[in-house]
Amino acid sequence: MLHGTGHVAEMLLVDDVVDVQAYDAVVLGSPLYESRWLKAAHRFAKTEGAALRQRPLWLFSSGPLDDSASKSAIPPVPTVHQLMIRLNGREHITFGGCLRPGSGNWLADRYLRPEHYGDFRDFEQISAWSRQVGSRIRRPKRRGLLSRRQGAPKGP
Ligand SMILES: Cc1cc2nc3c(=O)[nH]c(=O)nc-3n(C[C@H](O)[C@H](O)[C@H](O)COP(=O)(O)O)c2cc1C
Repeated sequence: MLHGTGHVAEMLLVDDVVDVQAYDAVVLGSPLYESRWLKAAHRFAKTEGAALRQRPLWLFSSGPLDDSASKSAIPPVPTVHQLMIRLNGREHITFGGCLRPGSGNWLADRYLRPEHYGDFRDFEQISAWSRQVGSRIRRPKRRGLLSRRQGAPKGP
């Protein structure tokens, strides 16, 4: 959704990220399972901590299987709160989650009641947050190649 804000955005699974240094800003998130991020996302946040700290960083979690995340701000779970501090994150948001019957998740089938199933993602909320993040990411300075093609920028 950051595409619409005039930035070039790439959406990647953490395991597919080659080099965090290649990005001007990062939005990192994970669904919540038993009040934690997925292991891969948490591990990524820790192993890439140095690079993440050096650039504007936003975090998000998704999970609540009701409309609570649309109604009021839900703070990050403790481990994600620690990441926010350690990585100097700008902001964290919790979005509603989605769980469908027959998702193949045996824990869901075993522990969750029928009322937990549903799609609680609030795409208006997600869009609004993306626009807000986009507006806070500074445009990178024009690079040499672009300047030569389009004419060097005037002024000092
Ligand atoms: C076993 C299980 C545990 C969950 N634990 C939490 C939780 O602690 N907090 C929360 O907000 N959502 C929790 N959820 C909801 C999921 O985060 C939600 O379904 C999410 O959208 C899953 O995303 P995914 O399908 O991309 O993995 C849990 C779901 C399952 C099945």
